[in-house]
Amino acid sequence: MSSSINTDVEDHYFSSNPPPKALAHHEAQARDFISQHAAAKRRVVLITSGGTTVPLERNTVRFIDNFSAGTRGATSAEYFLESGYAVIFLHRQFSLQPYSRHYSHATGCFLDFLQEDASGTGVVAADDHRDELLAVLRKYRAARTRNTLLAIPFVTITDYLHELRAIARLMRPLGPRGLLYLAAAVSDFFVPPDRMPEHKIQSTDATDFLHEQEPEPEPEPEQQQQQEEEEETFDNFDSSPAVPRSKRLVVDLDPVPKFLKNLVDGWAPNQFIVSFKLETDPGILVHKARYSLERYQHHLVVGNLLTTRKWEVVFVSPRRPDRWLRVPSPAWEGKEGEPLDAKDLPDGEPEVEIESLIIPAIEQLHDEHIKSLLARM
Ligand code: PMT
Repeated sequence: MSSSINTDVEDHYFSSNPPPKALAHHEAQARDFISQHAAAKRRVVLITSGGTTVPLERNTVRFIDNFSAGTRGATSAEYFLESGYAVIFLHRQFSLQPYSRHYSHATGCFLDFLQEDASGTGVVAADDHRDELLAVLRKYRAARTRNTLLAIPFVTITDYLHELRAIARLMRPLGPRGLLYLAAAVSDFFVPPDRMPEHKIQSTDATDFLHEQEPEPEPEPEQQQQQEEEEETFDNFDSSPAVPRSKRLVVDLDPVPKFLKNLVDGWAPNQFIVSFKLETDPGILVHKARYSLERYQHHLVVGNLLTTRKWEVVFVSPRRPDRWLRVPSPAWEGKEGEPLDAKDLPDGEPEVEIESLIIPAIEQLHDEHIKSLLARM
């Protein structure tokens, strides 16, 4: 059931959706970073993190977004760095970042982590946060000093896909030492450029007189029937709206092409590729994860449910039974092998970050991948 690479769709998408302005700069940064770590025979992971936006206007005032704060990606980056990987962190602008995530979106304000020093002339870490802050600061400084963390931002779905393709291609020289960890929440639908208005969509008819045109000639009866049939086919909206159609914003989105097969076979062959599968219905999670694995023929799908994603995930990989990873809690003793019920979750955040279980387990699979590919070379 595996799908094949569709280069026509790829060529069309990337030529009709312009790249982000900073793409060339980001490519140069990634090229230097990768060659430094390839020379040191270090493993490099590309982590994608956070949600992609879908602009509704070229001069974008309005856009569609999703829930992702980038917690999975930012947390995973720290554990990959701890395991000795160099990390390219392709993230949604202003989403959570490794290390600063402990403070930037914390409940309250980052100033709560500070206090005046004894002389009253300077600022130091607050007494009750000092040890934790020092530990995080040391890890952050180590990543900066060793140049093992490169952060690259994106905003829209199109920015994301351009950046992903460019960086994945640059990772080729790493061979099996490269790992792609696709944790971003990627939009499935978008407005293609030929249907995107230049300016802010208007909510009143105050400027209509500026665009007044000659009235269209009445269509021939046959043409009229065809038009009505087409409208019927596409119209799945309320046929008798309380507010007239002219005053409503009807958003009509195209599907975003799926490029995972192109990534696996064309952009990053030989790399170890991990995708994430997000669902909200526990009944379909494993099925959809396995379907994705069979369709794209990559190495691992990490399945997670919106409500329980910080507590458990399931590893679905070829020729292995499904493997559930779950943070320890007395709340689910004896319930192994079945998805957690959101109503059984303890209050608050888990004491253990599930990424501290995910990353070592992926590192082990990556080890096996490297060994088997190097043995064949
Ligand atoms: O950031 P957090 O708040 O911590 O949330 C983390 C997370 C729930 C977002 C993360 O763990 C996760 O599940 N990320 C994947 C979400 C997602 O896009 O799932 P999906 O089922 O829509 O897509 C599955 C795969 O197809 C993904 O690898 C995606 O890269 C790929 N895809 C998706 C859409 C698209 N148009 N093209 C794709 O190739």
